[in-house]
Amino acid sequence: MSKPRIACVVGTRPDAIKTAPVVLELLRRPDECEVKVISTGQHREMLDQVFEAFGFGADIDLGLLKPGQGLAEFTARAITGLDQAMEELRPDWVMAQGDTTTTFVASLAAFYRQIPFGHIEAGLRTGELFNPFPEEFNRRACAIVAAQHYAPTEWSADNLRKEGFTENIHVTGNTGIDAVLQVAEREPQSWLPDWPGRVILFTSHRRENWGAPMESAARAARRVIEAFPDTALVVPMHLNPAVRETLRGILGGHERIHLVEPPEYPRFVKLMQRATLILSDSGGVQEEAPAFGIPVLVMRLTTERPEGVDAGCAELVGTDEDHIVTRATDLLSNPESYKAMARAASPYGDGQAAKRIADLCLASFQN
Ligand code: UD1
Ligand code: UDP
Repeated sequence: MSKPRIACVVGTRPDAIKTAPVVLELLRRPDECEVKVISTGQHREMLDQVFEAFGFGADIDLGLLKPGQGLAEFTARAITGLDQAMEELRPDWVMAQGDTTTTFVASLAAFYRQIPFGHIEAGLRTGELFNPFPEEFNRRACAIVAAQHYAPTEWSADNLRKEGFTENIHVTGNTGIDAVLQVAEREPQSWLPDWPGRVILFTSHRRENWGAPMESAARAARRVIEAFPDTALVVPMHLNPAVRETLRGILGGHERIHLVEPPEYPRFVKLMQRATLILSDSGGVQEEAPAFGIPVLVMRLTTERPEGVDAGCAELVGTDEDHIVTRATDLLSNPESYKAMARAASPYGDGQAAKRIADLCLASFQN
């Protein structure tokens, strides 16, 4: 057989961050394969930032983003666009990561064309179909069609086995850890250079937190900043207009609260490293913060990433205002509580996941 052509499909910021190490690893093996990147353009600015940070781009960019896009209409446009891209590229293998709509549709498009699909970050589960929404459905659907499941941890591999999958489950580590370790080695860029005090980092974007839960979380963060005059809150605002409106309304107009545009990935990583405490509902941030020993309070009711909680680096606090204030207050005022959580741990990977994934995928063409 001639060299296999591998299509890596991305669309959102986390898709690009977690697929980048795999793309770069495959590009290092030009004698063994040909790599093509297809972007749905589910995100625009937030995706382009990542391409720039990792120094690659899309061979095909469908440019599908629309402001305030709905799940159904985006899914419809993505399946049509991705099918056309596959018609054009004729890949021998399709790769995508995680649980976004882009990833679910990439798996479906590959299935319709009977092209093997490799699922990066397979097996994460909360067990609740509507939490997170629609990601829990997306990742389960990807598993049905996957020819290889790249599970980040033993726990995620076990989830797949419990669902009856028996073959081609591989524990590889999470490629997000490859990405964050690579980026953390780069030149430091200072954050809030004039601020001598403690920094608290806040991010929130999850669909199931839109409205009242996000308002409650934001009010909690403001109360914490008001209670601790030596702290500043940095809030990178996701570009979703619904999210920005909530955050501006509750967190705006305070001299120690900085509402900022989403920093490009390497700068965001420096910001995490500068932070004393992180409040977040992000999936990726939950995985990255423990790598630096920064305690993270996860503002969600469930998590598909229990490893950080089990390792004692992350705590699931939900979105109740008083509870978030209580937990943050304890960590900011009680050195023992803080020390217990501020331990660097790497439950999600060792930085070598992309190498393992490239090996596994290419080995399947040797049989
Ligand atoms: C998506 C994913 C979610 C992931 C998140 C990461 C789905 C269903 N959701 O959620 O799993 O955690 O990305 O950030 O796949 N926008 C821009 N420019 C951008 C990005 C977003 O303007 O670069 C705005 C647009 O108005 C867009 C809206 O944000 O319509 C929402 O984007 P969308 O991708 O639909 O959902 P996210 O909430 O970003
Ligand atoms: N991130 C970033 N800039 C930001 C916020 C997050 O580069 O302003 C990175 C973060 O380090 C992580 C990823 O984006 O790697 C997480 O993206 P997001 O929280 O949007 O999605 P999720 O992981 O929840 O799907």
